[in-house]
Amino acid sequence: MPDWIVRHRQGMTAEALSDAVFSGRILVFERLQPMRDLIAAARALTERVFATPDPVTAHREMPADAYQARYAELRRAFVKDREIREAFEAALVAAGVDGPTTFRDRLVLRISPPGISGYRRGFGLVPPHRDSWGAGLACQINWWLPVYPITRDRTLAIYPAHWAKPIANDAEGWDWRKAGKVPGVPLLPTAQAPPDRAGELRLVVEPGALVAFSAAHLHASVPNTTPEARVSSETRTVALADLASRRGAPDIDGGDVSPALDWFRRLETGDLLSDELKLPRSHSGQYRS
Ligand SMILES: [Fe+2]
Repeated sequence: MPDWIVRHRQGMTAEALSDAVFSGRILVFERLQPMRDLIAAARALTERVFATPDPVTAHREMPADAYQARYAELRRAFVKDREIREAFEAALVAAGVDGPTTFRDRLVLRISPPGISGYRRGFGLVPPHRDSWGAGLACQINWWLPVYPITRDRTLAIYPAHWAKPIANDAEGWDWRKAGKVPGVPLLPTAQAPPDRAGELRLVVEPGALVAFSAAHLHASVPNTTPEARVSSETRTVALADLASRRGAPDIDGGDVSPALDWFRRLETGDLLSDELKLPRSHSGQYRS
């Protein structure tokens, strides 16, 4: 595939969005009006919680435990912030999701300061993985955005060589309800072999851009070797139309996992996807394409 990244200055139809994402395209929406509000609100909250106008350097100013406590507080506040929620959802709709029939995962604020190794829930370097391994949903769309400026050495990497090439992983039988709680069940399924880095894409976009890519793309945090922290936000969506028509990205190496329908709530009502589908929550394999 010649060009994985496609830039858009305006939104698409929901169908065109799904078609592009499920074919592996990485969409960068550059000028969606609600993104201005989202970035302003996310920065205001981050600066308030860290009590500094420059939170990307806050790791230099405070002890590690105090920094982590502020970060935990920020993540909780981010999820509850009405202005952020409304702006994020408006941005998703502006990009092309169908508001009334789309479900989303939690809104996540992620900070990755330099010098962190390993992965803990919500913190540190996320190793190479496909979100589809854990969610079990071929039609999931990942949404990602930087809150402050990023660089090639402070961002997310996608490995398009693995769009059509399997990689060893520990997804088989993974269960999000047991993740990190039951011995032997990892926090998230990850690649168990080094990725093929041919064509590696390091996302470098301006704050205000919104990136959409398939949950089936292999991706990872880039180790932050810069002096500043990466501050980014993300969520995931699932459209009922895609579920109903079994549309989605190819599943080339996923394990047999229960679709994580309980992660997703309807944008407009907050109703759980699992309840709306009236399906047993352990309906394994139902939504793989
Ligand atoms: Fe991910």
